[in-house]
Amino acid sequence: MRIYNVAIDGPAGAGKSTIAKKAAAELRFVYIDTGAMYRAMAVYFLDHGIDKNDEQAISEACKDIDIEIKYDAGNTQRVFLERVDVTDRLRTQEVGDTASVISVYKDVRKNLVALQRRLAESQNVIMDGRDIASVVLPYAEVKIYLTASSEVRAKRRYDELIAKGIECDFNAVKNEIEERDWRDMHRENSPLVRVPEAVLIDTSDMTIDEVAQKVIELVKEEMAKDI
Ligand code: DC
Repeated sequence: MRIYNVAIDGPAGAGKSTIAKKAAAELRFVYIDTGAMYRAMAVYFLDHGIDKNDEQAISEACKDIDIEIKYDAGNTQRVFLERVDVTDRLRTQEVGDTASVISVYKDVRKNLVALQRRLAESQNVIMDGRDIASVVLPYAEVKIYLTASSEVRAKRRYDELIAKGIECDFNAVKNEIEERDWRDMHRENSPLVRVPEAVLIDTSDMTIDEVAQKVIELVKEEMAKDI
């Protein structure tokens, strides 16, 4: 049986994980959130008091870090760090910022890219991240670049924080998003890029359902070619 790999890249807040999760459920593909793996690495460095700016210490430590991906009964991805489920610790601002800093290091990426490729080898996957089409799965059958204006992405993030009861300032949230974009796009190792063959979807004025349906359509079109 043929294996299909779907790569979705894009900046923070474009809606990648929400869309990928929804499309994967409908297509019965496995959803793989690679950002969560970089976040799990960040948790390790935070827990062990390793300075995120000390590349040498990080490179040394990350060779032995054990990260595993499993799925619970509801088909939700759970991330295990050193055999402990850390999924519920991944979504904080501190972990996100640390992940963005440590993801520039070559050795961190080497460890995680190998794990990501292994996961995509034997099953149909929708994988989201920054370098999926360009580095991790260059032979993916479907490649999508999902984006939205920084204004819209900041508004989504701001609403999310307010809904959680976290006080914040819209302009500060927008600045953080733009800073993260800059770091992700300008780093030396595997920067966020749109490969020429990726289908561009700007989600600024689209609903989650509209975007998910578009992704599903693209995958089904690809699968129909083999029938
Ligand atoms: O998508 P996210 O916000 O969960 O990702 C957290 C950080 O991890 C992000 O700032 C950049 C990094 N990342 C990466 O470098 N490569 C990936 N494939 C996924 C995430």
